[in-house]
Amino acid sequence: MKKIIVLISGTGSNLEAIINACNENRINGQVIKVISNNPKAFGLERAKKLNISSTVIDHNTFLSRNDFEVSLQNYIDSLDFDLIVLAGFMRVLGPQITLKYLNKMINLHPSLLPLYPGLDTHEKVLANKDKIHGVSVHFVSSELDAGPMIAQGIINVQSKETLKNITERIHKVEHKILPYIINEICNENIFLDNNCVK
Ligand code: GAR
Repeated sequence: MKKIIVLISGTGSNLEAIINACNENRINGQVIKVISNNPKAFGLERAKKLNISSTVIDHNTFLSRNDFEVSLQNYIDSLDFDLIVLAGFMRVLGPQITLKYLNKMINLHPSLLPLYPGLDTHEKVLANKDKIHGVSVHFVSSELDAGPMIAQGIINVQSKETLKNITERIHKVEHKILPYIINEICNENIFLDNNCVK
């Protein structure tokens, strides 16, 4: 059974979907640690309720981005793990940490990358009157919301779609696709061939 670390910053609905999937044996793994950069993240409450150990590494308490990342990396290195999942983790990670965990770290992003890296993806889709929208799961590289793509989930944007509605619809896709992909990685059906990465 593979050991999974989940990094969060906020609500943690994807974290809960992952933990539930582990508990229901839909993921051949277990969440051994939740790490949040935000001490107020609601996901920390979810982890507690579901009896999963969590740690806060608050980026605001460090003098520089690098200091935060060194501390995060040292902490992660102290754990025995197989996979790191960024599930609503809202900090950009630099080359040192992303290179170190290149084939062990995946990110969930709420857009059809390479469209709309960064923030406010749903707002951008609505403003541009896009017909389709979706989510991406990818291995993490040092570029923002980039790195080898693993899977995408697509929705058709409806004519009178609201921000609330589209956010909920995207969450539903995320809660299915992310546990599914994590399980495939845990079963070693999906892996990154380092020779393919520049
Ligand atoms: C999710 O929609 C995820 O795709 C997004 O944050 C949300 C977290 O929701 N991630 C990013 O934007 C990363 N670039 P959650 O806290 O309820 O899981």
